[in-house]
Amino acid sequence: MTVIEFIENHRTAYLQELKDFLRIPSVSTREEHKKDVQEAAKWVSEKLRSAGVQSVEVVQTPNHPLVYGETAQLPGRPTILLYGHYDVQPAEPLDQWTTPPFEPAVRDGNLYARGSADDKGQLHVHLKALEALRKTEGEVPINVKVIIEGEEEIGSKNLWSFVLENRHGLKADALVLSDTSMLARGVPSITYGLRGLNYYQIEIMGPRQDLHSGVFGGAVPNPIAILAKAIAGLHDSSFRVTVPKFYDDVIPLSRSERKAIASLPWKESEFRKIVGVAELCGEKGFSVLERLWCRPTLELNGIWGGYTGKGEKTVIPSKAFAKLSTRLVPGQDPKKIARLVEGHVRRLLPKSVTCKFDVLSTGEPWVADYRHEIFGKALTSLEKGFGKKAVFVREGGSIPFVSQMHSLLKIPCVLLGFGLPDENAHAPNEHLSLDNYFGGIRSTALFYQDLGRNGPKL
Ligand code: BES
Ligand code: MN
Ligand code: MN
Repeated sequence: MTVIEFIENHRTAYLQELKDFLRIPSVSTREEHKKDVQEAAKWVSEKLRSAGVQSVEVVQTPNHPLVYGETAQLPGRPTILLYGHYDVQPAEPLDQWTTPPFEPAVRDGNLYARGSADDKGQLHVHLKALEALRKTEGEVPINVKVIIEGEEEIGSKNLWSFVLENRHGLKADALVLSDTSMLARGVPSITYGLRGLNYYQIEIMGPRQDLHSGVFGGAVPNPIAILAKAIAGLHDSSFRVTVPKFYDDVIPLSRSERKAIASLPWKESEFRKIVGVAELCGEKGFSVLERLWCRPTLELNGIWGGYTGKGEKTVIPSKAFAKLSTRLVPGQDPKKIARLVEGHVRRLLPKSVTCKFDVLSTGEPWVADYRHEIFGKALTSLEKGFGKKAVFVREGGSIPFVSQMHSLLKIPCVLLGFGLPDENAHAPNEHLSLDNYFGGIRSTALFYQDLGRNGPKL
C-alpha cells in the first residue's frame, strides 16, 4: 500500500483523534487551565511515540511543559527539526461560537474548535504523516527531532532556555513547521517571511484619584482625552507611522520580489469580503499584500479607562490605558524600535500627565532565501498532495521562534501553511478546512518520503 492510500483509508480515524486533541482546553494564558495544558503535552508525547519518535520526553519548565523527542538517528539520512505548539488562545467571547470551542464539530467540510487551525490541527498533520510513513515503510524514513511547546501564544518564554541548553543536540538540516496559512483556498503555500512583533502597554496617570466630573471637569486634565489624542497622532494621513526613524532601517523590497508578489493568485475583493469592510486602508505607495507582509505597522490592540459599566457615572478618571504593538520587517531592530516608540509616545504627552510605558515583548522579523533545494522538494510535495500549483508567500503574523532558530542554527526553515486567512484563528468559530488538513497530511508525508529517499544530506 502506498502512503497516500494508507492516509486515505484512515481519514475517519485521523479526524476522530484530532477531535480528542481539540477537546483538551490547553489555554496557556489561563492559570485555571494549567492541568489541561499538561494533559495536552502528555497527549502529544503519546502520539509522537506512535508516529515513530521513540525517545519522547515531557520537559517541565517554570510554566508549561514542552515535548521533546527524537527518532533513532539513521546514518546518512537528513535530519529535520519539527516545531509546533499545542497551546491555544482563550476562546472568549463564548457566546459568539456556533458550537462550543472545545466540542469539535464538522460543518461544511470544516472542523470547528479552538486550536483547529492554530496550531493543533496543523501539528496533527505532521504526527499523522510520520505515522503513515512508519506504518507503510516500516520506519520513519528521515531523522526527526521535535520540539512542541505549550507557550507559543504567551511568547515562548521558556522555550529559548531549553534550546540554548540543548543547542548541540538540536542540530538538524532544516526546521519544519506548519503554523501559518495558505494564500487562498486551493493555493498551497510556503511562507518565506514573517513580521516581527513588539508589544507595549501604556498607562497614563492624571489626577491622584477619580474625580467628580462636574466639580473638576474643565480645569483638570482628563487622561482618556490625552491618551486618545496621543494615539491619534501615531499615524499620519497617508497611514504612515509618525514615530521618527521608524522606517530608517527597513530594507527596501527588491523589484523582483514586488513583481513576484503582484503576480500571486490573490484578489483584493476576496480579502475585503473576509474582513467585512467597505474600503481598505494602508500606507501609500504599497499594495495590500506588501502592506500586510513587508511593511512595518503600528496597531492599537486595546484601550480602556474610566467608567465602562451600565448607565452613567460622571467621572474624570485618574488613569487611562492602551495596548499597542508594532509589526516589524527585516532591517528593523526590535529593541531600537521599542525605544523609538516609547520616546515618541512620551513626546506626544503634555506635562499634565505621567506615563508608564512597558515593553511586554519583542520579536525579530524573518525572511529567507528560498533557493535551497529543500524548498523545491517542499513545493513539489505540496503540488502532489493538493493537486494544485503551490506558491511562495510572506505573511504578516509572527513566530519569533523561527527567526531565533534561523540565526542560531543557520538552517533553512520550511513553513508549510495549511490554515486559511478566514479561519478565525484567535477568534470565535476558529476552524480548519478538512481538505487542507488531509491535503496537508498527504503533502507532508510525500515531503518526508522524498527527503528520506533522496538523501543522504541536504
Ligand atoms: N500561528 C500564529 C502566527 C501566524 C499566524 C503566522 C498567521 C502567520 C500567519 C501564532 O500562533 C501567533 O498567533 N503569533 C502571534 C505572536 C505570538 C508571539 C503570540 C501573532 O502573530 O500575533
Ligand atoms: Mn500558531
Ligand atoms: Mn496564535
